[in-house]
Amino acid sequence: MAYLLESAMRDTASPFEFDGPVPLDCMVDRRSEAETIRVWTREGMLMALVAPRRYGKTSLIRKIASEGEDVGLMVVTADLFGVASLFDLVLRLERAWARYTPVDLRPTVNNILGSAQAGVSISGAGFALTMADRPTSDPEAALYALLELPAQLARRRSGRILIVLDEFQSVAGVPGAQALIWENAWQQREAVSSLFAGGGPGMLLFSPDDKTSFSGQVRTLRLDRLPTSELQNVIKDRFTERNRDVSGIVGELVAVCEGHPQRTMLLAHLLWQEVPAGERGTTDDLEAAIAVALRQGDAEFRATMSGLTAGQRKVLRAVAEYGTPMAARALRALGLPKTTAQKAAPHLVAAGLIEDTDQGWRVIDPLLARWIRTNYGTRA
Ligand SMILES: Nc1ncnc2c1ncn2[C@@H]1O[C@H](COP(=O)(O)OP(=O)(O)OP(=O)(O)O)[C@@H](O)[C@H]1O
Ligand SMILES: [Mg+2]
Repeated sequence: MAYLLESAMRDTASPFEFDGPVPLDCMVDRRSEAETIRVWTREGMLMALVAPRRYGKTSLIRKIASEGEDVGLMVVTADLFGVASLFDLVLRLERAWARYTPVDLRPTVNNILGSAQAGVSISGAGFALTMADRPTSDPEAALYALLELPAQLARRRSGRILIVLDEFQSVAGVPGAQALIWENAWQQREAVSSLFAGGGPGMLLFSPDDKTSFSGQVRTLRLDRLPTSELQNVIKDRFTERNRDVSGIVGELVAVCEGHPQRTMLLAHLLWQEVPAGERGTTDDLEAAIAVALRQGDAEFRATMSGLTAGQRKVLRAVAEYGTPMAARALRALGLPKTTAQKAAPHLVAAGLIEDTDQGWRVIDPLLARWIRTNYGTRA
């Protein structure tokens, strides 16, 4: 009975994850990227993992962390999304240690934090309670205690520690925090490796053009799109294993998404809704899935456009429609002065909305590009 239920579920539930980190057994590729991070970690490197939104940064981090357990590597991952202040940063780091410290090391970690007398703890209410009791407590001392914790712990256990700061771009909004984190990571690199993951303008300090010392001291790994041939095979096989045939349209699906990891999985998921068991998927099914994707993305795409200046919006539209911000026809059709285009394009690059590749300019999110062309097209 349980078997029947399981096989019925398997036949109906979508095998495509499109929201948040992917389960390890569903990950497509990223083998060489994982290996690179493994090697750099062993070498005690300071590492940056940089990619646009939804390219699979957190998924890759999870993969590294899960494999780390097998080789005695302790991995502590903090989610710094939207971190607002030093106090907030302390809470995120404290929470990460509370979550990822193995049971046998918890007393040691609490001893180390206790002796720092900064009000931080991985059991109980921790620094939030300290601040409630004594609002004038110093978050900087608490932050030091947490930043120095890995090195202190490394002295009491064998094996390397990897500290992962995911959504690191948010730290740019907390004055002084990046430098503090950086100094600590640098001083501890003998026993502790550090990985800073994120995207957008807050990660520009890891770009080769950056004039601060950061970029010279860090190894940067940029996540690219996923290989289309592998995506095609994985998607086709997952449909086939569940008694659906999409061999005639999977190439087009993958082409539409241009190797964008999340967009490909989302569209595969939406196509799944269109193709019942025992059926063969058609181009109409794919068109229907694309239409749903554009409808579902409408609010997000509108918000993205609204967050831009008028000039940036025009540049985004020019790239989506004409493949370059500088095409004479685009400048004319959109009333976009050339100087505005030149000024606005780098902002959109930094924001992770467009990129300048060997094959020319493109909008990073293929669905956003399609939404622009579908709803606001200026070409015949
Ligand atoms: N290697 C992969 N194989 C299959 N799907 C992937 C892969 N990487 C990313 N994805 C798709 O992208 C989605 C987002 O992945 P993930 O949350 O890891 O990305 P992220 O870069 O951390 O995103 P964010 O910028 O929102 O933090 C997943 O739900 C999945 O659909
Ligand atoms: Mg993420």
